[in-house]
Amino acid sequence: MKDGPAVETKGLSKVFTATTAVDDITFAVRRGEVFGFMGHNGAGKTTTLRMLMGLLRPTSGRATVLGHDIVEESLSVRRVTGFLPGDYALPREMTARQFLRYIGAMFGFSGKGLEKRIDELLMQFELSDAADRRLGTFSSGMTQKVGLAQALLNSPRVLLLDEPTSGLDPMGRRDTLELITSLAQENGVTILFSTHILNDIERVCARVAVLHYGRLIAYGDLAELRRTHGTDQMDDLYLSLVKGAG
Ligand SMILES: Nc1ncnc2c1ncn2[C@@H]1O[C@H](COP(=O)(O)OP(=O)(O)O)[C@@H](O)[C@H]1O
Ligand SMILES: [Mg+2]
Repeated sequence: MKDGPAVETKGLSKVFTATTAVDDITFAVRRGEVFGFMGHNGAGKTTTLRMLMGLLRPTSGRATVLGHDIVEESLSVRRVTGFLPGDYALPREMTARQFLRYIGAMFGFSGKGLEKRIDELLMQFELSDAADRRLGTFSSGMTQKVGLAQALLNSPRVLLLDEPTSGLDPMGRRDTLELITSLAQENGVTILFSTHILNDIERVCARVAVLHYGRLIAYGDLAELRRTHGTDQMDDLYLSLVKGAG
């Protein structure tokens, strides 16, 4: 599986009592790419990511992360994957460093190795000066960086980001998008980037999957999708896809 996709789903579905949140979706994310996972609120993005992380059990279908089955080998998946939840609430009373230590301990890291990793991440995210401040005093952009830093603590090969730019001011958004691009380009991390913000997708992703009420209504190369739908405008493409899906 060394050269297989980073993430692959086959007929993946999740049915809650009254809702089919994810409906038979099949797609693959290539190694090293920033893949756009698009859809409006309620499209099924979070449910999909939670299944990939082993937090929810699929109703049917299957998926792998770097060849590891998400149900049978969920611990192996966790080991190679970083996750930034969409609704991540950081403990306000902890400092950035304390929080990263706490997350590191959950991965079983400790001692000098952990401290070194934390220092590296704080530096990478330009948070070194704020390391010993309480998280409750952080701006939304800084908070998001801490969220990303915790997702990277275990040096994951695959990163699942659930709406990482939602709720950020323009500068925070720009910073986050730049980080996403550099993580993929310089560190070779594969990124599954979930968002409802069309602009962001356009800026960092070459390939996308579009979810609409749990169903995959488009999948593939963004430039090609635009050509087939005869539009350069991301909003128009989206409307055209949604209309076509009925
Ligand atoms: N635990 C749950 N129980 C019941 N319904 C859920 C649950 N989680 C999500 N849903 C429903 O599944 C659908 C998809 O939700 P979600 O995956 O959160 O979408 P998105 O992240 O794209 O906004 C929505 O209709 C939502 O209400
Ligand atoms: Mg969501």
